[in-house]
Amino acid sequence: MSDDIKKGLLGIVVDETEISKVMPEINSLTYRGYAAQDLCARCDFEEVAYLILNKELPNKKQLKEFKKELSKEITLSKNLLSILKKIPKNSHPMDVARTAVSVMGLEDKETKDSSPKANLRKAIRILAKTPTALAAFYRLRKGKKIIAPKKNLTFSGNFFHMCFGKVPEKEIVKAFDVSLILYAEHSFNVSTFTARTITSSLSDIHGAITGAIASLKGPLHGGANEEVMHMMKKIKKPENALKWITKALKNKDVVMGFGHRVYKSGDSRVPTMREYFKRVAIIKKDKTFEKIYDIVEKVMIKEKNIYPNVDYPTGPTYHLMGFDTDFFTPIFVISRITGWSAHIMEQHAANKLIRPLASYKGSKHRKVIQLNQR
Ligand code: SDX
Repeated sequence: MSDDIKKGLLGIVVDETEISKVMPEINSLTYRGYAAQDLCARCDFEEVAYLILNKELPNKKQLKEFKKELSKEITLSKNLLSILKKIPKNSHPMDVARTAVSVMGLEDKETKDSSPKANLRKAIRILAKTPTALAAFYRLRKGKKIIAPKKNLTFSGNFFHMCFGKVPEKEIVKAFDVSLILYAEHSFNVSTFTARTITSSLSDIHGAITGAIASLKGPLHGGANEEVMHMMKKIKKPENALKWITKALKNKDVVMGFGHRVYKSGDSRVPTMREYFKRVAIIKKDKTFEKIYDIVEKVMIKEKNIYPNVDYPTGPTYHLMGFDTDFFTPIFVISRITGWSAHIMEQHAANKLIRPLASYKGSKHRKVIQLNQR
């Protein structure tokens, strides 16, 4: 392959962004100039969502207004609810999320307006409604009654309420909120680039987010948090972990939750999420997965010099919180809607059609032979 080809766009800078800065050399990530771990310590997810969408942190009045907007948009149409009821119960919830956002696009009263203001309003609607749709499916597939959202609950609190019918301890909700903050934005990752590519033909926000969800589903991207849990369940006990990881490395298997295209000496979000994983494990009085986590991590760093990415601690944390494994990546979705939407708006504001080239290596020019002579 020619050296001019950058497969996977490895190392290629394709545009500018003001939304986030990933600094692998100092293991740091900032959203609009604020360090992600600082935002986790001082803000809730709604404040960070506002920051990502509106470029500045909100004051009290702006935050109140933003929460009011979200709460106004949180319920689903009768049409979307009836579609959710008809979806096969064994469908992957990522496909349900994709379908739900697509239906929201059919129903949105501003679907043809891609002005910055209309796009912001639509982003808020998608952000508000997607957790409601996912929680409804969570209940429906278990044959349980859908639980309506409550106006007085936070974004994170409401998701627990709608899935489980109760809100857990404050520390658990905080850990969930932190995971949403850490998942909210990460520059030109594959799903965000997908959203920007779709937007670059001047297509609409619902289409771009639908495409981004499909991209996030893959196990090399967001789907990894689900795969991490499958791996930990396979390992089962800390006593099995060393043997398991040694065999996986011998077989040259890809170990889920490890490695990153940009960070080569550790994902800056991991230490924060690892700390909240620990707190959740203490509350749940279950350290099994923490022990497995540590053994696999130690071997991966020692033997391969490959570090965990953020999906490694989120997987077992969501498991301890009680979520079904196939709901981990949809949780990533409800947070990343903020980053995707900001990138869609940024792409619209300074658009250039994304259309790279390919080096052709197929058949030489040949003549078409009529069907009856082939
Ligand atoms: C996310 O981009 C983002 O920002 C994404 C994300 C976000 O917030 O949006 O951070 C979220 O998607 C995190 C990544 C989740 N994926 C996984 O955990 C899946 C497992 N990891 C990988 O397959 C891999 O590390 C990638 C896909 C994440 C990165 O792939 P690259 O950059 O294309 O690197 P590569 O696969 O070519 O690996 C380079 C080398 C290879 O060895 P050699 O052939 O050079 O000898 O490192 C090895 C790989 O085999 N390697 C691994 C490994 N990751 C890399 N070996 C075993 N297990 C792994 N996980």
